[in-house]
Parts: sequence; structure tokens; C-alpha cells
Amino acid sequence: MTNNSVGLYIHIPFCKKKCLYCSFYSVKSDEVSETLFLALLEEIQSYRDKHISVDTIFIGGGTPSLLSVSQMERLFEEINHSFNVSGEITIEMNPDSITDDKLKVLKSLGVNRISVGVQSLVDEELKAIGRIHNAQVAIDAINTVNKYFDNINIDLMVGLPNQTIESLSYTLNKLFTLNFTHCSVYSLILEENTPLYNLVQNGLILPDSDISVDMYEFATLELEKHGFYRYEISNFALSGYECKHNSNCWHFHEYIGIGPSSHSYYEDTRFSNPETIERYLNKDNKTIYPIEDKNTRVGEYIMLALRTREGIDKNDFKQKFGLDFDSIFKNILSNKDINTSCVSTTKRFYIKPEFYYVSNSIIVNMLEAM
Ligand SMILES: C[S@@+](CC[C@H](N)C(=O)[O-])C[C@H]1O[C@@H](n2cnc3c(N)ncnc32)[C@H](O)[C@@H]1O
Ligand code: SF4
Repeated sequence: MTNNSVGLYIHIPFCKKKCLYCSFYSVKSDEVSETLFLALLEEIQSYRDKHISVDTIFIGGGTPSLLSVSQMERLFEEINHSFNVSGEITIEMNPDSITDDKLKVLKSLGVNRISVGVQSLVDEELKAIGRIHNAQVAIDAINTVNKYFDNINIDLMVGLPNQTIESLSYTLNKLFTLNFTHCSVYSLILEENTPLYNLVQNGLILPDSDISVDMYEFATLELEKHGFYRYEISNFALSGYECKHNSNCWHFHEYIGIGPSSHSYYEDTRFSNPETIERYLNKDNKTIYPIEDKNTRVGEYIMLALRTREGIDKNDFKQKFGLDFDSIFKNILSNKDINTSCVSTTKRFYIKPEFYYVSNSIIVNMLEAM
């Protein structure tokens, strides 16, 4: 499944403070340690002789906006030396570490998409999940980003402690007075190894799952009213502003991950870096996953493609796996529930967006039918 260009993901594993709900790998720090930073440069450099073309870059975390201006400059110098770079370049930024200086430098380095982790514009909700910014800091940050960039994603969350449809409506209405082109909306996942999980075990009440589904539905309708198109289960964009990096991953394009805990799918092989900073600096081995059998691959393709509005392209499916989609899924395509929740045309098979909330069970049914 080799593609001419690949995506590049760089993981910055530091946050000023860990949010109560988050299980992504990052450690508490006000800055990006120079030792780890140099190791990231070295890993990027290790690809230099391969002459790889990169058509999307995503710098994520953790909190990449903790990189200093000098680190941002050195990072891009190394990326440009090691890869042939074009296309979309995104960096995730937390509202409290967005500054004019950093934005100006990022712009001059070729970054063309900024993702701001807002989550909510209600102070009590932000506090309840342990964010260090308040609503005003987030609003000021978005306005500052607007001075330099026009392609801006906002991350929001639903199902937060104390959140109601009314408070979500307040967040969205405030947001719609600002300029942005893309919105990722995540339903809170209660991860077992997080402080929020312990708080819930000890009596903290979260909105129940029906209310969270209603909140998601409400956010969807509001975003659609404002021209944002739901092109993937959790992602909404104005036309032309879909995230290319993530879209490529959902469509089985290859990517290289740099930094602790990052994953790669490169030269038809999946591998991941050591998970912790210590093991990464120690140059522990990457974990190389066994080549999946064809069934597993088909399953993964289906799982990823069905997250998107485009769904499964039956021609692409045939080209990649030599299989005829309609014949393999003949039984399931005549199933009444699947017919209600999905659309099958000669070219495509996709889940109707109003049934995304049961997408997991649809996908499981499909995988079982293989
Ligand atoms: C890993 S964070 C990195 C970006 C940045 N540090 C931030 O917090 O804005 C990316 C996004 O994942 C989402 N996220 C993290 N943990 C989550 C969870 N347990 N449930 C739902 N969304 C989560 C948040 O919306 C966050 O903006
Ligand atoms: S949500 Fe973002 S800021 Fe919060 S701990 Fe996770 S990566 Fe860090």
C-alpha cells in the first residue's frame, strides 16, 4: 500500500499541567526539554537518506505550543533538510501558550493550519476538567491566531461535568462570533488511568450517555447551520478546510511518527516508538507489529473508512484488496437495520451521519459478516 508521499506526525510530550481526563502520553513541564528536543531532531534526521516526500505534517501532543521560538526554527530546519515538504502543516496550540511571537515564526516557517484546544467556553466546565485556561483566554487566543492564520481548528468536548445543552449552546454561540474553519467535537471518554475516572468512582456525576448523545446532536445541528459539514464522525469543516493529514490516515495512506509513543505506518509496516521519554532517550527498540493478514487489513480499512462521510469507495476497495465489496457483504447489505442506517450506491458504502452514534455496532456487524 505504498504511496508516493507520506504524512509526518511529531509528538511533543509535555504539558504545563495534565488535564484530569487525558490519557495521551505527556509529562508535566513548562517547557520542551532540550534533551528530548535534540532526540526528536535526531530521529527526524535518521530518515534523511531516504528522500521521502511529505505532503502533510501534524505537530501534536502534548502541547506543541510549549516549543520555544528557537526550537520551532530548529525543528523546521531539520524537517526541511530531511524531507521534501509540501502541503498542509498543522500545529496544536493550547490557548495559554499562544503568543504573537510564536504565531509569526510559525507562519514564516510554512505552518498553515492551527488547532486550538478550547474544549468549552464556560469557566466552571474548564475548571472541572482541569484545564489551565479560562474562556476569555481561549477567546483572546483565537483572535490572536486570526491575525496570522485563516485555517483554524477548534477542539470542543461534550459530556463534561456540569455541562448541559444550554451551556453547550452558550459555548457554541460565543464561538460563532469568532473566525474558524474547522471544529473537532469529542465526546468525553472516561479513561481508566485518569484522575477524572477516580473522581467519578468517588461520586462525581457526568451527564448520562443519552444526554451526551443529545449534546452531540445539538452541536452537529448548530455547526451545520453555520456551514460546517460533518465529514468524519468527530470532525466538521467549512468546504475545502477538511484536515488533509487525518483524512489521509483514515484512507490508509502511510505516515511516519516521530517522538515518544508515536506510531508509524511506513513501507507497508506498522511500528511504534518507545512509549516514555526515558525509554525513547535510551533508544529502546521500536515495536514492529507483525504484517497483518488480509482479513485484519480489510477490517482496519472498513473501520477507518466508515468514520468518514465518503465511506468505502468500492473501486478503491477492489484495487487494494482484489475483493468485490457487494459480493462479500451481500448478506449484510440486505439486512433491514443496515439498510436504514447506511447507504450503498454502485460506487460507495457509507453510514448516514444521523446514525454515527451507533457506528460502533454497525462496524462490528460488518466485521462479523466478513
Ligand atoms: C491530546 S489533545 C492535544 C491538544 C492540546 N494539548 C489540547 O489539549 O488542546 C487533543 C484533543 O484530544 C481531546 N481529548 C483528549 N482526551 C480526551 C478524552 N478522554 N475524551 C475526549 N477527548 C479527549 C481534547 O479535545 C484535545 O483537544
Ligand atoms: S488534553 Fe492536551 S493539555 Fe490536557 S493533558 Fe492532554 S495533551 Fe495535555
